[in-house]
Amino acid sequence: MSWPPQRIATPRLYLRPLLPYDAEPLFSGLCADAEVTRYLGWRTHSMLAQTRELISYETHRWTRGAAWTWVLCQAEGSEQGNALGLIQLLPQSEFCLRLGFLLRRASWGQGLMQEAATPLIEQALARPGVYRIEAHCDVDNAASARVLEKLGMQLEGRLQRVILHPNIAASPRDAWLYARTREVAT
Ligand SMILES: CC(C)(COP(=O)(O)OP(=O)(O)OC[C@H]1O[C@@H](n2cnc3c(N)ncnc32)[C@H](O)[C@@H]1OP(=O)(O)O)[C@@H](O)C(=O)NCCC(=O)NCCS
Repeated sequence: MSWPPQRIATPRLYLRPLLPYDAEPLFSGLCADAEVTRYLGWRTHSMLAQTRELISYETHRWTRGAAWTWVLCQAEGSEQGNALGLIQLLPQSEFCLRLGFLLRRASWGQGLMQEAATPLIEQALARPGVYRIEAHCDVDNAASARVLEKLGMQLEGRLQRVILHPNIAASPRDAWLYARTREVAT
């Protein structure tokens, strides 16, 4: 199995790398929506140019192997104008990746993020040398915590003052630490 996967198909979705034409749907559906960005590490976008910059930054990180971000698209939709959300794996060390995700509000509550993240986590944990997928989630972000639980991630504890969420506070906030690890004998 090659890494990073260029395409993952699920019953209702497919995942693919970011493309320049994702800027408008990502801006209007995700990046400029204060409800979606509430618990993220960057400020809600006020201009399309910020979303374009994000796409360019993440595309560069993909190329360098510094982080991988996939767009969630509807299985039945066209390639263009069909971005429902984003999911990211960010290397923390040579054996650990951090998971992050966001979905447009109109698609919440249908189990779509679990559907997208499940095969990605499985493929990542099947890579030689990868033993751990972890996620930080704001202690007030109940929907995200629930998705992480449904993904089979274990709650390892509450980290104090560990995460900056500039849309809600200027100082670092507490986060839940979740992780799923490779099942191995040694
Ligand atoms: C987190 C997010 C991706 C969830 O995706 P989703 O596909 O809508 O998730 P689900 O459809 O599985 O629904 C969320 C689950 O959380 C539960 N939930 C939602 N809001 C809740 C709340 N306020 N309190 C308790 N549980 C809540 C739902 O009941 C559901 O659980 P269930 O399937 O057991 O009923 C989506 O809410 C989102 O994009 N949020 C904004 C971005 C974000 O915060 N990302 C995470 C950063 S760590």
